[in-house]
Amino acid sequence: TPSAQIRNFCIIAHIDHGKSTLADRMLQITGAVSERDMRAQYLDRMDIERERGITIKSQAVRMPWELGGETFALNMIDTPGHVDFTYEVSRSLAACEGAILLVDAAQGIEAQTLANLYLALENDLHIIPVLNKIDLPAADPEKYAKELASLIGGKPEDVLRVSGKTGVGVQELLDRLVQEIPAPRGDSDAPARAMIFDSVYDAYRGVVTYVRMIDGSLSPRERIQMMSTGANHELLEIGVSSPEPIPSKGLGVGEVGYLITGVKDVRLSKVGDTVTTARKPATDALPGYTDPKPMVFSGLYPIDGSDYAELREALDKLKLSDASLVYEPETSVALGFGFRCGFLGLLHLEIITERLAREFDLDLITTAPSVIYEVLTSDTGETVTVTNPSEYPDGRIGSVSEPMVKAAILLPKDYVGTVMELCQSRRGTLLGMEYFSEERVELRYNIPLGEIVFDFFDQLKSKTQGYASLDYEPSGQQEADLVKVDILLQGEKVDAFSSIVHRDKAYSYGTMMAERLRKLIPRQQFEVPIQAAIGARIIARETIRAIRKDVLAKCYGGDITRKRKLLEKQKEGKKRMKMVGRVEVPQEAFIAALSGD
Ligand code: GTP
Repeated sequence: TPSAQIRNFCIIAHIDHGKSTLADRMLQITGAVSERDMRAQYLDRMDIERERGITIKSQAVRMPWELGGETFALNMIDTPGHVDFTYEVSRSLAACEGAILLVDAAQGIEAQTLANLYLALENDLHIIPVLNKIDLPAADPEKYAKELASLIGGKPEDVLRVSGKTGVGVQELLDRLVQEIPAPRGDSDAPARAMIFDSVYDAYRGVVTYVRMIDGSLSPRERIQMMSTGANHELLEIGVSSPEPIPSKGLGVGEVGYLITGVKDVRLSKVGDTVTTARKPATDALPGYTDPKPMVFSGLYPIDGSDYAELREALDKLKLSDASLVYEPETSVALGFGFRCGFLGLLHLEIITERLAREFDLDLITTAPSVIYEVLTSDTGETVTVTNPSEYPDGRIGSVSEPMVKAAILLPKDYVGTVMELCQSRRGTLLGMEYFSEERVELRYNIPLGEIVFDFFDQLKSKTQGYASLDYEPSGQQEADLVKVDILLQGEKVDAFSSIVHRDKAYSYGTMMAERLRKLIPRQQFEVPIQAAIGARIIARETIRAIRKDVLAKCYGGDITRKRKLLEKQKEGKKRMKMVGRVEVPQEAFIAALSGD
């Protein structure tokens, strides 16, 4: 397709504002997918995506559209909507010339609407404002058209009104994509440069790499080269998704398509990298490649220790399709052998643990998520990076810094007081406050990531009856008065419960854990003290009192088979016990204490 007849666009929206539903309608109306093959959320391929109704991996699809007697190729690049995957959103945006800014006509602008709009503007995209779900009785398009127009400039009448569900307004939207979004521009004679905006692992085809051609062209059988690593591969297949893959003779300037090289590992084909040809390589890579950085760490341990090898294999396999997952072996006194894993955020953690359970049938214990602390040691003056509290350099602490984020919270004005209190209690610093309309306010905070990763979002939702939305981005490390709290059972440290917390919260963490464990750990033959400590200083204490558990006493003089049965039962129970020093702790107690049940 000549570049004058190509339009590359994406849909940016807050979660649940109806992006996938609108994409489905477009596929149907343009005839890209026949009525017979149509199913809901056509583009969301992963089971978890479909079940949870969220988009994790972005996908590209080409749709034909006729206007004024000419046929255009509309390339829609779907973007993930969740805060953990911002990097993928920004790569997808960089592959487009325009964006549909989709807003639920019953909800108005939300935090991710703004975050994604800012990303789109940074990429110089032409924005088409669209209100969705106008079929809903609660929709108020007049009000939100004004809100949108005042946000991006322009007139409320220019804001399109559609329903992805009924299809109203979607044809007009397709026309406007052709009329308003600039055709891609590039140099067709220059050495090939294609930007990778997505890379997915397919069990049958190996890695499928989605690219947007900037300059030059690529054709099958050619040797391609990755500019960040210099790695060379033969191009086995090249094509476009429409939305089923259709092999083509090549891709030219402005086109969007996929490449298959037979490579089995997504790390060899990284999002953001530039593809060129080995025969006539380009000299300058396209801007913007960065490795995604894990933000949240957690230990994953098999409940049944003999599953360790299987867990390693499963992680290796997941890594093939998810380059942002990092892990290394780790051992815990309490939990045995496992892996320390790094994730982009909490949703990413949840998705990975769920995939491990579902696709690999593994029962796991997940330790409390931790962020990255940087400790400047007092003796050697070196900086130690700590992602596992049990590796904290006790007794050599000069200063500690923690990762911060800039958070933007959008909420109705009635909840401002409550939310400010919540942010304050999580050590947030107010950066600014802005009214978007008469009722809706944006609060901006600088806040420690460690305070957000636990239950912040749940708290925010429950304190605002679900009306607040949150978006955040990393804003560097900052020194803080942090301490490590250890939990000791009869004087033995239980590493899985160590936690790095702010000094003001050390006491409440210590008493909470000690109390929890007292309730969870059964009485032993001797008294067991549970202590919480900062270094050598005990800050909380609970005691499990001793019992004499004489199960045989019950069948005094009774028959011998009954006695044997009882003894056997007791042995069974012991298998699921872990020893901490002399104390027997049931595996379930660890799980319950870690999950806060
Ligand atoms: P993510 O992929 O997670 O970002 O969500 P999304 O923005 O793709 O939202 P999705 O299309 O999954 O729609 C969210 C919910 O809104 C679903 O329950 C849809 O059925 C519903 N919905 C989407 N569009 C419309 C619409 O035009 N009218 C009505 N009434 N409901 C809609």
